[in-house]
Amino acid sequence: MNRLEQAITTISDYPSPGVQFRDITSLVENPQAFAEACEQLAAPFADAGIQKVLAIEARGFIFGGAVAVALGAGMVMARKPGKLPRKVIAQTYELEYGKDMLCLHVDAIKPGERVLLLDDLIATGGTAMAATDLAQKLGAEVVAASFVVALPELGGLGRLQARNIQTHALLEYE
Ligand code: PRP
Ligand code: HPA
Repeated sequence: MNRLEQAITTISDYPSPGVQFRDITSLVENPQAFAEACEQLAAPFADAGIQKVLAIEARGFIFGGAVAVALGAGMVMARKPGKLPRKVIAQTYELEYGKDMLCLHVDAIKPGERVLLLDDLIATGGTAMAATDLAQKLGAEVVAASFVVALPELGGLGRLQARNIQTHALLEYE
């Protein structure tokens, strides 16, 4: 097991029976593991000409700021409704139970800007696809997506790849 894998805690039957919940709070509480994760999230994109890192509320923000600084890019926040003070575009998406919504400021990304999507975890990909849709509506080129954890069996990585978005995950779990 590498340092990052050791730093993730797995909780059985949370938030519902049968789920193995991969918890990144223990990783970010560990200074070496947190720094290593931020470095590894950014490293493949050092020469990719990324202009904006698009991070998703809430846990994506923890890593997004550090990755944006490492890449010399701006940091854009995809937020839940009612949180952004200026004009937004919004996109609803499916959760396992029910729906949620993400919003972006309409001027957060300029047409043609090269964007790296960033989140702590991708499962079904509903959240990442909604953020991608919003960025593309603003004219962004969503070049790649970077995650600490991926659960590839739930299909999210494949959904992004089908949209021609390169994916990178530090840890993958069945
Ligand atoms: C979690 C996680 C991703 C999303 C992944 O966020 O941080 O954003 O779910 O699931 P998906 O690939 O099936 O869409 P959550 O909605 O729990 O919000 P939080 O970060 O505010 O806790
Ligand atoms: N951990 C954290 N967030 C999640 C998970 C998980 O295992 N599955 C879906 N969202």
